Amino acid sequence: MIPMTLEEIAQVVGATPYDVGDPGALVTAPAAVDSREVVPGGLFAATVGARVDGHDYAGVAMAAGAVAVLASRPVGVPALVVEDVQVALGLLARHVLGRIGPVVIGLTGSVGKTTTKDLLAQVLERHAATVATDRSFNNELGLPLTVLRADAGTRYLVLEMGAGRKGDLTYLTGIAPPQVGLVLNVGSAHVERMGAGPADIAEAKGELVAALPADGFALLNADDPYVMGMAGRTKAQIVRFGRSPQAAVRAGDVRPAGRGRTAFELVTPSGRAPVELDLIGEHQVAADEAAAAVATVLGLDTREIAAGLNAARRRSSGRLEIVERADGVTVVDDAYNASPESMRAGLRAARALAGNRRSVAVLGAMGQQADVSRARHTEIGRLVAELGYDLLIAVGSGDPVALAGEAAAASRNVSVHAVEDVAGAITLATALIQPGDVVFVKASSEVGLGACARALAGA
Ligand SMILES: Nc1ncnc2c1ncn2[C@@H]1O[C@H](COP(=O)(O)OP(=O)(O)OP(=O)(O)O)[C@@H](O)[C@H]1O
Ligand SMILES: [Mg+2]
Repeated sequence: MIPMTLEEIAQVVGATPYDVGDPGALVTAPAAVDSREVVPGGLFAATVGARVDGHDYAGVAMAAGAVAVLASRPVGVPALVVEDVQVALGLLARHVLGRIGPVVIGLTGSVGKTTTKDLLAQVLERHAATVATDRSFNNELGLPLTVLRADAGTRYLVLEMGAGRKGDLTYLTGIAPPQVGLVLNVGSAHVERMGAGPADIAEAKGELVAALPADGFALLNADDPYVMGMAGRTKAQIVRFGRSPQAAVRAGDVRPAGRGRTAFELVTPSGRAPVELDLIGEHQVAADEAAAAVATVLGLDTREIAAGLNAARRRSSGRLEIVERADGVTVVDDAYNASPESMRAGLRAARALAGNRRSVAVLGAMGQQADVSRARHTEIGRLVAELGYDLLIAVGSGDPVALAGEAAAASRNVSVHAVEDVAGAITLATALIQPGDVVFVKASSEVGLGACARALAGA
């Protein structure tokens, strides 16, 4: 955060100070909405969530070193009181951006945003000071918090932008107008039972490219027709990435590189260079192409981009995170979340990593609030059988049971079990796993299978 006095901040966000002894006190560190993440010299933004009211943690935040609290009511410690804390954070972020002027890169898509921004950050930070979204802080709170981590030295600001519904990206790009906008894909996640189709999702995600200036760049996935359909919505220069021969930035000669990894030749308008990813799964190639496309329009040399991709490591946990146990069991923790696309990609990646080893899948329901249909679950059951998994543990009632039933029907070689809950999964998997197994663990975040992955990894 660029240093600002409480007085300046109050002016920018239209706040009334309460209990502020020194209006000249300087905020020098970023803002946080979680009191446990407050750093000395920072600002604590008290938001009201479904379960927790941040105002109750004002004292804790001050004890952790916050200079003041951005709040919607007085809290008995130095506070800048506004009507809407979220709006105020956005205003502050917009102001800070205006003062520091980094290159803003916005990226969205249904799947792979975090994977892509982690790769892109690792390519760009070799070149110049880069601030990128932490975890998946991609919404109306996370985005301003990310912006407020930037300072005068920041050259590149990489922002993951989530688009749950129409208007989200218009709001986010209003806070942080990007010069470079990237759309990864339009997937089926989150929508099946809510009546929205891909065209609606494409309309929402297209707001990103609609917000770009004429001298900006719209980076579009040439392999996704819904993304290419956004071309007419932007004034910016369009650069295509993907496997398609029409893509300006693409991966050629894509091939397995052993242990589930993938190698390819990165092709850009200015050259070619070999890449071998440290991440498992062929689907990661799309993230590499996307990251390389951004770096290319920012003027980085192709070999330099390839070097950055080659050196990149997994940064965010629960996404195909690999833990090797001393007894030779490999746990692939992909339990952060699950959509049909990511479930398929993860199952393939873990199976490729296993090669001749015994393959185990511990799977729960996909999709938030049961918005992925039963049919999508049975398709996954069939895939488990087709890929040659040896053992399947399906966790939960309803859709997971259907998934298990389909796997059993599709092949007699897969041993299928169903358990009620995460605790049951841990007990059964612990009993059935043998040294040398590869164990893939995945479900939608609310199933909580991360606990199972961690238990198995630590076993
Ligand atoms: N192109 C892809 N196709 C299929 N699966 C993918 C792809 N890219 C990433 N994944 C998988 O999807 C899951 C989520 O990836 P990631 O966290 O990068 O997505 P995200 O778009 O940031 O998700 P969120 O909306 O939850 O923030 C991971 O399991 C990852 O391995
Ligand atoms: Mg994410």
